[in-house]
Amino acid sequence: MKVDGKHYRTIWVAENNDKVIRVIDQRHLPHRFVIEDLCTVSDMVCAIREMHIRGAGVIGAGAGYGMYLAALEAAVANENDFMTAVRKSADSLIATRPTAVNLEWAVRRQLAAIADVDSIDDKIAIARRTADTIADEDAEWGRRIGLNGLAIIEKIAEQKQGEPVNILTHCNAGWLALVDYGSATSPVYAAHDAGIPVHVWVDETRPRNQGARLTAWEMQQNGVPHTVIVDNAGGHLMQNGMVDMVITGADRVTRIGDVANKIGTYLKALAAYDNNIPFYVALPSSSFDWTMRDGLREVLVEQRDENEVKYIQGAVGDSIETVLLTPKDSPAANYAFDITQARLVTAFITDRGICGASEESLMKLYPEARQS
Ligand code: MRU
Repeated sequence: MKVDGKHYRTIWVAENNDKVIRVIDQRHLPHRFVIEDLCTVSDMVCAIREMHIRGAGVIGAGAGYGMYLAALEAAVANENDFMTAVRKSADSLIATRPTAVNLEWAVRRQLAAIADVDSIDDKIAIARRTADTIADEDAEWGRRIGLNGLAIIEKIAEQKQGEPVNILTHCNAGWLALVDYGSATSPVYAAHDAGIPVHVWVDETRPRNQGARLTAWEMQQNGVPHTVIVDNAGGHLMQNGMVDMVITGADRVTRIGDVANKIGTYLKALAAYDNNIPFYVALPSSSFDWTMRDGLREVLVEQRDENEVKYIQGAVGDSIETVLLTPKDSPAANYAFDITQARLVTAFITDRGICGASEESLMKLYPEARQS
């Protein structure tokens, strides 16, 4: 995607030093565009845990590159016990955030790849190649999600006879949340690029405001008409015929089609269901968890610091300020994700194609998962 007309991915190996990973530090957006250099595993752990990078796809890619950094570090510090040091780094990467499946998936993929070769040099080379592959796949899957989702938007556009297709989205499942293109936003960009008039209702997404800060910024950078709304407005808009479809992303989807995504997704799905509005979940193949069935019972929902609820950040002139919203001593709860059960999901938009939210449909699209 483009920033001020220049193409960027959200994570890449530094042009001048292949031992440094560069990321777009999302904490500063939309007010500043900052690129951060990550040189060690603990830099990557901090970047994921403190949400310099966030979103299932890019934290998966971050974990992949984190394992490459782990291999580089282990070679210098622990030549005699290389794999013990790498496994320790793997554990600290996995412990950063629990809900998005891509993170652990990427770390385990790296461990398996590294185990396949003997010499330390080969292990480092394999870790680098695997990290690049994970990132490239994520970008390509984002692109294909866009093409597959475009067909759905085209159909709705035919019925709207030139009026914009109104799409509501929650959180940021955009280019910033993957390596490129995004999941929920990729069909929107594809439609916009194809000349279909679209308009996006952007949920602000308390408490971290990924919608207001990140999705709105992406839309603006790419010239897509959009309007930021408070999280509670979606139901009202749906009741009044102002939403044609909802598309969200996902952090983990179980084999029966239950969806873990940003807190508030479930309420949007309920309102969409009540108003007969299609509710789509867009995700790359790496965000399915074939080992889980019942999302409510099995997915671990991350609980984050209460201060994310109690304080809010914004620009005052040129400086970024943080202010207290609540009485200082009121406790706050910060559940970061919720579960939308499969019965509320119209279909999944994946890189492989569109499929219904049921185990039967998913197994048709992913026959290899029958054995998992
Ligand atoms: O806590 P975050 O911002 O990392 O969570 C990300 C989300 O939940 C997004 O909604 C997104 O849909 C999933 S990531 C593609």
